Amino acid sequence: MTQRQRWGTRIGLILAMAGNAVGLGNFLRFPVQAAKHGGGAFMIPYFISFLLLGIPLMWVEWSIGRYGGVRGHGTSPGIFSLLWKNKFAKYLGIIGVAGPLAIVIYYAYIESWTLAYAIFSLFGKIPKVTNFQGVGFEEILKPFEGFLTGFTGTGKFFIKPSLFAYLFFVITILINIWVIARGVAKGIEAIAKVAMPMLFIFAVILVVRIFTLGSPVHPDSNALKGLSFLWEPDFSKLLDLNVWLSAAGQIFFTLSIGMGAIMVYASYLREEDDIALSGLATASTNEFAEVVLGASIAIPAAVIFFGYQNAEKIAQAGAFNLAFVSMPAVLSYIPLGNIFGFLWFGLLFFAGITSSLALTQPAMAFLEDEFKIPRKKAAILIGIFIFLSAHIPIFISGALDELDFWMGTFFITLFAGTELIIFFWVFNPKKAWKEINKGADIKVPKFFYYVIRYVTPLIILAIFLGWFIQSGWKNIISGSPGKWIARAYIIMLLSLLAGLVYIAFRRKKE
Ligand code: PHE
Repeated sequence: MTQRQRWGTRIGLILAMAGNAVGLGNFLRFPVQAAKHGGGAFMIPYFISFLLLGIPLMWVEWSIGRYGGVRGHGTSPGIFSLLWKNKFAKYLGIIGVAGPLAIVIYYAYIESWTLAYAIFSLFGKIPKVTNFQGVGFEEILKPFEGFLTGFTGTGKFFIKPSLFAYLFFVITILINIWVIARGVAKGIEAIAKVAMPMLFIFAVILVVRIFTLGSPVHPDSNALKGLSFLWEPDFSKLLDLNVWLSAAGQIFFTLSIGMGAIMVYASYLREEDDIALSGLATASTNEFAEVVLGASIAIPAAVIFFGYQNAEKIAQAGAFNLAFVSMPAVLSYIPLGNIFGFLWFGLLFFAGITSSLALTQPAMAFLEDEFKIPRKKAAILIGIFIFLSAHIPIFISGALDELDFWMGTFFITLFAGTELIIFFWVFNPKKAWKEINKGADIKVPKFFYYVIRYVTPLIILAIFLGWFIQSGWKNIISGSPGKWIARAYIIMLLSLLAGLVYIAFRRKKE
């Protein structure tokens, strides 16, 4: 058997894992979720989810990954059948390969917008605001909306993107595949070592800039108002089940858990490598990037320039609006706006690429581990597959949101529950607990044993049922052509993976 790849250094591993978790979710998804779901009150279910779902699942995925990796398997079809000697186990694992693939086909597309916008900013190609006073905020944002739709295209069914959008997408895919083909240490880790420090530097510069802006337009709206916009609790929201579901969903998404993405990174650990402290470090870094940095840029900027009420509308309009419409409007107005625009989109690009690599690696590991396909060949195959699949969200209206809905809520919760039950119930709770603590640099309190065994699975079950009753069933029956195409694609992908799993494991028995 060929030697599995390994991470180069401990710091490199932590940066790669942090890069995996810190993504567009931190800077775009989080502020919008918080603003929509009660501001400061959202943070209550959010932190409860972090403690009872996020940290436990982070440790579980690291442990499962390391356990599988030292036995030659980095993805869930192989790992689940190691943990559970049953012929169905491997099929439960297909989500851990198909899921990240279904996410990356639209994630990489959005990532390519950030690259394009970074370059547009630098060359001053984005519209400019010359006057903020006496003009309605809709009026101000119009050219920016126009610029975005001109770039990505619009359409009832068929979207016609600009040539630039297509070109930048191709470039983004090529960069991703090139990095992936270089391997875990020389590719992913090397990029993370540059991208993560840059990301933090860019973010800190932007936060400082936003907080020293004062109030150039609305005398009574400054950055502190921006923070209180996000943090002022509306406790009545705590009675809304949707707020709890969204908080849990955000924790899954932002920490990259429930997708097999952390698992595959952990499969490149050595048997005695620490999990407890490193997993915690990954989760904390992500939370810092999310709650401190992610919350202190785009939303405060919108409040400063457009006032409290309008910021509310901007946040309601969603993450793309915040990132590609209101933020560029603000940055075009301040001195050196081109540079700050470049920093903002550069930050998003770094956050994006280190996560899209993590979303691509499960398919890579699957082909390498289970089919023994050489790395470069596997990378090219997957690159072509992602490139072709991405035509669905690029060209078909409604497909992107539908993919995100199924992947970001349904499958993520389902898979999180599955991996946890297989590890802490089917495999063996005592042995699973030992795995978490093996080689550990800190002692994990026994309290978490009970949490992982009982509390976390119950919460996941509650989320699942709650989600289904509240909105899931409605979404399942509603349909537009774009939605149906996205669903058909997901079914096709799952079937393809099921077939591949069947072939791979039949071959092994021979
Ligand atoms: N955590 C990433 C983000 O916040 C997204 C992601 C999800 C990456 C699942 C890998 C797996 O953007």
